[in-house]
Amino acid sequence: MKYHLVSGACGFVGRNLVKRLLSTTTDNIVIVDDLSVGTHPSTWLPDYTSSRVNDMEVINGRLLYFETDFRDWLNRLHKDPTWLKDSYGLDFDKFEDVFHFAAIVGGRAKIDGDPMMVALDLAIDAEFFYWVTRHKPKRVMFPSSSAAYPVSKQTDTAAIALSETDIDFTQMGQPDMTYGWSKLTGEYLAQIAAQYYGISVASVRPFSGYGEDQDLSYPVPAIAARAAGKEAPFEVWGSGHQGRDFVHIDDCIDCILMAMDNISDGSAINIGSGKLTSFRELIGLFTKFAGYNPEIKPLLDKPVGVHSRYANMDHVNNTFGWYPKISLEEGMRRVYDASVARLAERNKQST
Ligand SMILES: NC(=O)c1ccc[n+]([C@@H]2O[C@H](COP(=O)([O-])OP(=O)(O)OC[C@H]3O[C@@H](n4cnc5c(N)ncnc54)[C@H](O)[C@@H]3O)[C@@H](O)[C@H]2O)c1
Repeated sequence: MKYHLVSGACGFVGRNLVKRLLSTTTDNIVIVDDLSVGTHPSTWLPDYTSSRVNDMEVINGRLLYFETDFRDWLNRLHKDPTWLKDSYGLDFDKFEDVFHFAAIVGGRAKIDGDPMMVALDLAIDAEFFYWVTRHKPKRVMFPSSSAAYPVSKQTDTAAIALSETDIDFTQMGQPDMTYGWSKLTGEYLAQIAAQYYGISVASVRPFSGYGEDQDLSYPVPAIAARAAGKEAPFEVWGSGHQGRDFVHIDDCIDCILMAMDNISDGSAINIGSGKLTSFRELIGLFTKFAGYNPEIKPLLDKPVGVHSRYANMDHVNNTFGWYPKISLEEGMRRVYDASVARLAERNKQST
């Protein structure tokens, strides 16, 4: 029986990856999340059933959940490599696929508002890669981010479609706050784990992943919810002319699994659509779905980050033949429909 490991499994990317693994494999999946942001599997797993072995929750028979800080969990395993077997009867030698999504992320408000908290990612990733080089799992996924790219290439006058080669480890540009620095450091550790310890590691740089079940602290679901509630005038952070490259979570998961199958040297690829969409365009799309055309009200005191961040997907298209399948219109429609359904449910409960 194979065992995979997913850290941060109750967060946005983690839970979507876990659901995919449950539907495409029959393997056991060990998941770790402290629920600092994520929500318990009972809230996102269909047909949820549960039993316990000590403090490990056994969910739907083969999802083995530890609700704890991933650093503590790794330390425990590091000090006592047979701990999972002795305490929980998990009798296997090595993890197969390890997906490391435990991180302090947050939207722009957290990245700019509490950069020292976000810097704790450096500690989480260092503990993770240290354990990886001792345990030697079969394959490892490290999610970096588009925030690792130099901010000088994302200004209103100099923005370009960002290619993988725009990060040059011999000549570093300034990434986006402590979040970007921690992602760059994580990528460097991924390369060291591959080159010095022979671990198979793939890394990805997702741009703006979005989806129906994303936390409302992120712009896409927040804007969708406000459009569903017919906000007018419609508030936007900054001028609204700043733009991002939005990519649906189902495509992100596809690309993550593709990267795992094809990359082993720790190098990173972009996950994006290759298209820049401004927040005003996004609001235009959602208000079109909602059937109204409000005045836009810029909130110039809000943090907005870089002006334009979007991917050049040539390397991924040409080397791996990978393209996202879900168009912006279709993906945003799904988010909008989910917002409308949530609003209707809330209204029903309050009457
Ligand atoms: N969502 C995106 O579009 C996107 C884009 C670029 C990069 N990424 C990267 O993908 C990864 C996952 O992002 P996400 O969007 O799912 O974020 P998220 O905040 O939704 O998920 C992170 C999860 O990790 C958990 N967590 C945090 N610290 C922990 C700790 N010390 N121990 C155990 N659990 C802990 C949280 O409770 C949460 O469930 C992150 O590394 C992020 O930087 C995501």
